[in-house]
Amino acid sequence: MSASVPPPTALILGASGTLGGAVARTLAARGYALGLHAHQHPERVPESLPGSKAYRADFREAGAAEELAKAFLADFGKLDALVWAAGISRDAPVAAQDEADLREVLAVNLTAPFLLSKALARTFLKQKSGRVVWVGSHAGLSGRAGGAAYAMAQSGLLALAKSLAREWGPTGVQVHAVIPPFVRDSGMGRAASAEFVEAVQKRNVFRPDTDPAEAVAAFVANLLEQPTSSGQVFVLDARIVP
Ligand SMILES: NC(=O)c1ccc[n+]([C@@H]2O[C@H](COP(=O)([O-])OP(=O)(O)OC[C@H]3O[C@@H](n4cnc5c(N)ncnc54)[C@H](OP(=O)(O)O)[C@@H]3O)[C@@H](O)[C@H]2O)c1
Repeated sequence: MSASVPPPTALILGASGTLGGAVARTLAARGYALGLHAHQHPERVPESLPGSKAYRADFREAGAAEELAKAFLADFGKLDALVWAAGISRDAPVAAQDEADLREVLAVNLTAPFLLSKALARTFLKQKSGRVVWVGSHAGLSGRAGGAAYAMAQSGLLALAKSLAREWGPTGVQVHAVIPPFVRDSGMGRAASAEFVEAVQKRNVFRPDTDPAEAVAAFVANLLEQPTSSGQVFVLDARIVP
């Protein structure tokens, strides 16, 4: 009798959020054993996913990303996929941006992904395999009037994805960034102003008739099985970037 093959493992950051939750359900359906991260809302992490384990971390706190990585590796022993879908915005025009808010946005959206990558680097490089998907934002490509802090962090996230792809690619680790469409019925979407929603809708050259969060989750899950690419930024909405 052959020994049973252990399921692939994935750590999802922001699993209590709209996009992270959708990714968690999709990966669970594909047989992954999941580490599911939440910050303030552990009750929003999808329940009863077989083989899953919940974690809490506040990425504004020093050492939080590293502690989380350590706890996940102690529980699961290996990491096949890392999906980042956490984030915050504290939008304000540059002239009015509160410095503490700026620091929080950079800490959660940019420094934490870097430190998480650093904490997991040894594991990925030793395994000589693994897939990473960073859920980014259109703001990282286009900038955002009234949201420069968020846009800066999101640009940095794309640079991190490409840099990791270059560093880790030779050992067999694939790294991508996915830019979701604007999801009205999501944590981040519900926080957006009416003017912002209207501006996004005006720039979209196509309106999909589907649940965008589920579409993002399916794309991420497929990307984790994609054998040929790395270092790419996939834009899943219909705003054309000049
Ligand atoms: N939704 C969209 O339309 C859209 C469009 C473009 C890009 N994005 C990107 O995709 C990400 C996910 O979007 P979403 O709509 O799913 O957002 P969401 O529902 O607001 O989820 C955000 C996630 O980030 C976690 N989080 C918040 N503050 C944190 C902190 N200090 N430390 C650690 N984790 C923290 C939240 O945890 P708790 O809830 O447990 O506190 C939650 O799991 C966004 O952050 C954004 O960068 C979203």
